[in-house]
Amino acid sequence: MDKFLVTGGTRLKGQVTVSGAKNAALPILAASLLADGPSTISGVPDLADVRNMSDLLGDLGATVQRDGDGGVRINVEDEGQSHAIYDRVRKMRASICVLGPLLAKRRKARVAMPGGCAIGSRPVNLHVRGLRALGAEIELDGGDIVASARKLTGASIFLGGPFGATVLGTGNVMMAATLAQGQTVIESAACEPEIADLAAYLNAMGARISGAGTPRVVIDGVKELTGAEHTVIPDRIEAGTFMIAAAITNGEVRLSNTNLDHMLAVVDKLREVGVDVEADGGGAVVSAARRIEPTDATTQPYPGFPTDLQAQLMALLCLADGNSVITEKIFPDRFLHVAELLRMGANIRKEGPTAIVTGVRHLIGAPVMASDLRASAALVLAGLVARGETTIARVYHIDRGYERIEEKLAALGAEIRRISE
Ligand code: EPU
Repeated sequence: MDKFLVTGGTRLKGQVTVSGAKNAALPILAASLLADGPSTISGVPDLADVRNMSDLLGDLGATVQRDGDGGVRINVEDEGQSHAIYDRVRKMRASICVLGPLLAKRRKARVAMPGGCAIGSRPVNLHVRGLRALGAEIELDGGDIVASARKLTGASIFLGGPFGATVLGTGNVMMAATLAQGQTVIESAACEPEIADLAAYLNAMGARISGAGTPRVVIDGVKELTGAEHTVIPDRIEAGTFMIAAAITNGEVRLSNTNLDHMLAVVDKLREVGVDVEADGGGAVVSAARRIEPTDATTQPYPGFPTDLQAQLMALLCLADGNSVITEKIFPDRFLHVAELLRMGANIRKEGPTAIVTGVRHLIGAPVMASDLRASAALVLAGLVARGETTIARVYHIDRGYERIEEKLAALGAEIRRISE
C-alpha cells in the first residue's frame, strides 16, 4: 500500500489544471449503457473509481477504451449480463448508478446492495422508491437488489429524504425515465452540477430532459437513445481542494479548468475567512497573505457548502485565529479526519454532527492514516503546512478521487512524495 511523505512549510505557487469531475464522470459512464452505438466522453479523470466503473461496464458487456488524453470510448456489445457483483460494488458505492440504465434498457438488473462505508450509513431506499414508482418490481435477494420491469411508465416522484435530495438517486431515476413511456416529474431532485451534466449527456444521446440542476426535473420518455459525444465538467471538489491548499500555505495558485459558478458557496466561505479568490478567464487565482479568520460552516446539498469539502475546510480552520463551528448535515458521521488531525496538534471537539475547531498556531507532522477520500485530502493539506514530516498511510483512498494529486502539488512547489511499499 502506498504512502505519501509530506514535508510542510512551502508556500504553493504556480498553476494547476483541474481534472474532469469524478462525480459527473461516473454516472455518465454508466449512462452509456442506455445507448445503441458508441459514445465518446472527454475530460474523464484517470482515477481508481473510473477504472472500477470501466471494469464494471466491461462485466456488463461494454468495451471501454481510454486514450491517453482523458477520452473514453464506450460501446455496448453484449446485453446478456446484467449483474453488478458485490466484489465491484463494495469497492465503489457509485456502482449503484448502473441500476437505472440496466433496468431501462434491459428491463432487468441485479446489483449488489452497497454496504455502509467510512463516512456512515448510505441507504439506497430513495433509489428503490423512485424506480418502483416507474413500475419496476424490486426485491432483495442474497444481498443483491433484483429489479425487473415489463415496461416503465412515467410518474410524478418526490425524491426528498431525511437529509435532503439524493444525488445518485436522482441520477438513477432520471436515467431510467429517459426510456419510460410518457412523462416523469422528479420533485426534490438533487441540483448538483453533476446532475445537470448527466442530463446534458443524456440529451445529447436523444433524451428529453428539462430542469436538471433545479429541484424539479421533467423527463419525456423516448423510444431509444444513441451514442453521443460529451465533455465532463471540471471537478469542483478538486478545485476547492487546491484553493484550500493555496490558502493553507499562504501561497498563490492559479487554477485553470475551474467553473466558479459551480463553487459560489465555497468561494463565499473562503473569502469570508480572508482568502482572496479572483476569477481569471476560465479559472481563478487564489491567494492568502495572512492568518485565516474563524467561521461557522454547515454542509448542505448544492448550492450549499459541499460535504465533499468539509474535511478540507476543517484542516484550514485548524489554523484560524479563533473558534470555528462546522456542522455536517449530509453525512453526520463524516468526521474520521478529526482523530487524525488531533494527532497533528489540532484542537477539535466533536459534539454529534458538529465539530468545534479552535485554531492553533502550528500543526505538527505525524504519521496519520487516510480513512476515506476527502478525509485523506484534508490530511495532505494539513501535512503541507505542518512542521516537519507527515506520512499519510493508505493513500489508495485519495487515488480513488484525485488524479495524480502528489504530482500536481509537487509542481506547485510542495514537498510531497509517494512511497510504494
Ligand atoms: N440517502 C438516503 N436514501 C437514499 C440515498 C441517500 O437517505 O436512498 C441519504 C444519504 O444517506 C445522505 C443523503 O441522502 O445522508 C445524501 O446522499 P446522496 O444520495 O446524495 O449521496 P450519493 O449520491 O450516494 C454523492 C457523491 C458523494 C457526495 C454525496 C453528497 C457520487 C459518486 N458520490 O453520493 O461523493 O458526498 O453525493 O453530495 O456522486 C465523494 O466524492 O467523496 C463522495 C462521497
